[in-house]
Amino acid sequence: MDVRTDIAGLLAGPTGLDPAAIRDLLETPPDSRMGDYAFPCFPLAKTMRKAPSAIAAALQDLIPAGVSWLDRTVAVGGYLNFYLDRPAFVRRQAEEARQAGDRFGASDEGRGRTIVVEFSSPNIAKPFHVGHAFSTALGQSLYRIHAHLGYHVVRMNHLGDYGTQFGKLISAYRRWGDEAALEAAPIAELLRIYVRFHEAAREDPALEDEARTLFRRLEDGAPEEIALWKRFRDLSLKEFGRVYDRLDVAFDNDNGESFYGPMIPAVVERLRERGLLEESEGAFVVRLDDLGLPPCIVLKSDGATIYASRDLAAAIWRKEQYDFDRNLYVVGNPQSLHFQQVFAVLEKAGYAWASTCRHVGFGLVRFPDRKLSTRSGDVVLLDDLLQECRAATREIIDRNAAERGMNWDNDLKDDLSERIGIGAVIYTFLKNSRDRDIVFSWDDMLDFDGETAPYVLYTYARARSILRKGEAAGVLPAWSDHPSAALAADDEMALARMLEGFPDMVRRAAESCEPYLLTRHVTAMARSFNKYYNNESILGAASPELVRARLCLVDAVSLSLRVGLHLLGISAVERM
Ligand code: ARG
Repeated sequence: MDVRTDIAGLLAGPTGLDPAAIRDLLETPPDSRMGDYAFPCFPLAKTMRKAPSAIAAALQDLIPAGVSWLDRTVAVGGYLNFYLDRPAFVRRQAEEARQAGDRFGASDEGRGRTIVVEFSSPNIAKPFHVGHAFSTALGQSLYRIHAHLGYHVVRMNHLGDYGTQFGKLISAYRRWGDEAALEAAPIAELLRIYVRFHEAAREDPALEDEARTLFRRLEDGAPEEIALWKRFRDLSLKEFGRVYDRLDVAFDNDNGESFYGPMIPAVVERLRERGLLEESEGAFVVRLDDLGLPPCIVLKSDGATIYASRDLAAAIWRKEQYDFDRNLYVVGNPQSLHFQQVFAVLEKAGYAWASTCRHVGFGLVRFPDRKLSTRSGDVVLLDDLLQECRAATREIIDRNAAERGMNWDNDLKDDLSERIGIGAVIYTFLKNSRDRDIVFSWDDMLDFDGETAPYVLYTYARARSILRKGEAAGVLPAWSDHPSAALAADDEMALARMLEGFPDMVRRAAESCEPYLLTRHVTAMARSFNKYYNNESILGAASPELVRARLCLVDAVSLSLRVGLHLLGISAVERM
């Protein structure tokens, strides 16, 4: 339940407006002395043929007395201002959160609906770079957010496991492959021989022909080539799996592009039947001129299939397999044209569900200070990023522990640096709207006072420590009707309002596929909590009843921080 809905309920009759419209109109006055919510009467002036100030006054007379959660209403100018019964409001919001626990903000509004979320999608035998990391962080969060809202979510990893480069890899492996190195660090080894192949092919162009032949053999199902390809795939997946484990990411399905190869002839047939296929310089394309898009190439001049045709087949397969209500592709913005073309072709081919496919794009990742060491030219690998972030976090933890005279053992410090370090990376990806480019800088990411994961995590740990201290002293959270236990301070009100807004923020993040809305909400809540903590003594409050009531609020805030972080893909730590 939220107060906006309550207020809308009170005003619906007198205004004749739809409750949803009233909800949207409600404003939060800039200064809480002007009320907790304000209803602007200006939009009603025309239909009611009255001045807004007169409407506000008239509405005020129509608000019934004795509404439990309302203290009073005041008409000022064209606004009707609502003053909540603060203690009742704070208690209600905190209690709602505490009752819900880890399901705070959850709902079943998605029940019976299926969402496919494709994310991560690295290329096998190639490094898992930060672009894939961005997709992984976003996709994981979108998965958790939708699951929280009761959707059935299918997580797909659309592995790049197909293409002419595998001919090159097979050729390179037979010439220069080092078995032991492949076992020890598969992707590094595959990358090494791949680079070597390109160097050698510059001297000896015949190698390219050999690679093409080998790729053909692979496509035709030659057992030896298939076996090698499969080995490269398995080893790569194993290596990716280590990163996924660290991030607590899993997939329901990792069919790669190769899986859809055999389905392409049927897709091509359908396009041909519908008269959509045109020959152009030997290749087959679907023209999209009417939509102002370049033609989508479906078959290359040598008859080979390409990326787009595999995506057409994959979308159709997903629909048949899962009957999704929404099909999301969490892939970088540079591929936006590709997805526009794929969706347009599906539409033209008569698949009405094409409109439920959506490209969830994101910006570039930049490293301005470039302090990061990379193993492979100019791509930054997620592995390196996590490693360095963890090491940088460890330094800070060591320093903090020394300053605070904490005697933490190494295991604890290791665990903390791993979790905080990973949290810091994920947070950085999900801090701003996804279209914005991301700038990685250690100083910003690990600033314990900034907009960062360490800041929010630290706040959570602090809240938990207050609860632990209370518990150790036998003081547990509890409400009381005693007047001294009323929570009505501005700081308490601010926290209660953030609790109130939390479920709505989860919903909005899902709708817009923008987890940053939650990142902001959680961070703002942490900020408010720290302000509260600095202004009021929680365990040292004036009466035992007040201590217990405040502990209830601390409990509610801490659990909503934990849930919010979880929905972002970050796991909270109990102490730090
Ligand atoms: N593997 C591709 C890459 O690394 C991303 C795949 C995107 N997904 C898709 N359905 N095309 O660029």
